[in-house]
Amino acid sequence: MTQKKLARRVGKIVPFYVMDLLTRAKELESSGRSVIHMEVGEPDFITAPPIIEAGKRALDAGHTGYTPATGIPELRKVIAQHYQDNFDITVDPRRVIVTPGSSGALQLIIGVLVDPGQEVLMTDPGYPCNKNFVEVFSGVPVPLHVGPDTGYQLSAELIERNWGANTCAVLVASPSNPTGTLLPRAEMERIYEVVNSKGGILIVDEIYQELVYGGDKFTALDIGDDIFVINSFSKYFGMTGWRLGWLVAPESYVENIDCLAQNIFLSCSAPAQYAALQAFSPQCIEIMEERRQAFRERRDFLLPALTEIGFDIAVKPEGAFYLYADCSRLTGDSFKFCYDLLEAEGVAITPGKDFGSNKPEQHIRFAYTTSIEKMEEAVNRLKRFIG
Ligand SMILES: Cc1ncc(COP(=O)(O)O)c(C=O)c1O
Repeated sequence: MTQKKLARRVGKIVPFYVMDLLTRAKELESSGRSVIHMEVGEPDFITAPPIIEAGKRALDAGHTGYTPATGIPELRKVIAQHYQDNFDITVDPRRVIVTPGSSGALQLIIGVLVDPGQEVLMTDPGYPCNKNFVEVFSGVPVPLHVGPDTGYQLSAELIERNWGANTCAVLVASPSNPTGTLLPRAEMERIYEVVNSKGGILIVDEIYQELVYGGDKFTALDIGDDIFVINSFSKYFGMTGWRLGWLVAPESYVENIDCLAQNIFLSCSAPAQYAALQAFSPQCIEIMEERRQAFRERRDFLLPALTEIGFDIAVKPEGAFYLYADCSRLTGDSFKFCYDLLEAEGVAITPGKDFGSNKPEQHIRFAYTTSIEKMEEAVNRLKRFIG
């Protein structure tokens, strides 16, 4: 049956191309083929046992109802304490708002900040949903092409140059998806100054903040208390499927965000929130730190292995679990390369097309969310494929 009506904004929202690739990978697997998955941005470790146990206890204790829209007070307090313990920053727990993943946080922030037609500056390549969140609220995403010269990050100079009459905010992520690169503190400070001088708002996505292997670890909360900061239990804490994240908002926005959260989400999952209370316990942090170490070892294996077979990685990624490789020495069409590789050798990787329109045909994202043994096998298969 034809659709009677479809909002125009839906037409602007493109699906993840990698999902088709994933479907094909699953088909190949169900026909008995071996597939090595390096396409998905989610840890291969399951949630740490103490968190799972806490989740089960929460269910047994009857924590199955709605919670306050901003999250259970205990969790907001624990998150605020995390900033005190790890960054020596005092954050009022009232400024911490628990959200359904950092995806929920992004929606709330864009929802309270962006009027129809207003622009948000962001990177290209970048996390694909960012522009769609802006579209959903009838704003205008402005992806700015970035490359190795700025570590695939925005710079104060780029922001200054691209600020227009309708620009209202800038969204950066450090470490970034898909490049794993960091924004150095000094540049973040310069960006903050430029954005402030324009009367705009800085939004910093710190979802991979705890997955940093080198460089200066800091939170943007230390730079200004009028910055919106986003984080999540998905990646470092290995809780993607629990759908839990948070944001730290400037004090004066808390009420508006609470109101929007009440209306859009009503509340986050109650058992997930009680489970997450365990996430910062010393026992859990020990597990997460072992995993962080494992990710670092994987990066240290994969980066030289890919370079050796003809990929170029211009900036060493110091965080997250991605390598964004230039494949132009091997192919002029990364999309076809990824599909042909999957069919021929059963290795699933993500073509640049998913991350924007900045030379996507020259780039491929490798997620090192699988074991070194499997990655060794993937590299052998890649070698055979390349010939
Ligand atoms: C940069 C970035 N921000 C936000 C998200 C959303 O994650 P979640 O909603 O699971 O917290 C992701 C997921 O891959 C991401 O890479």
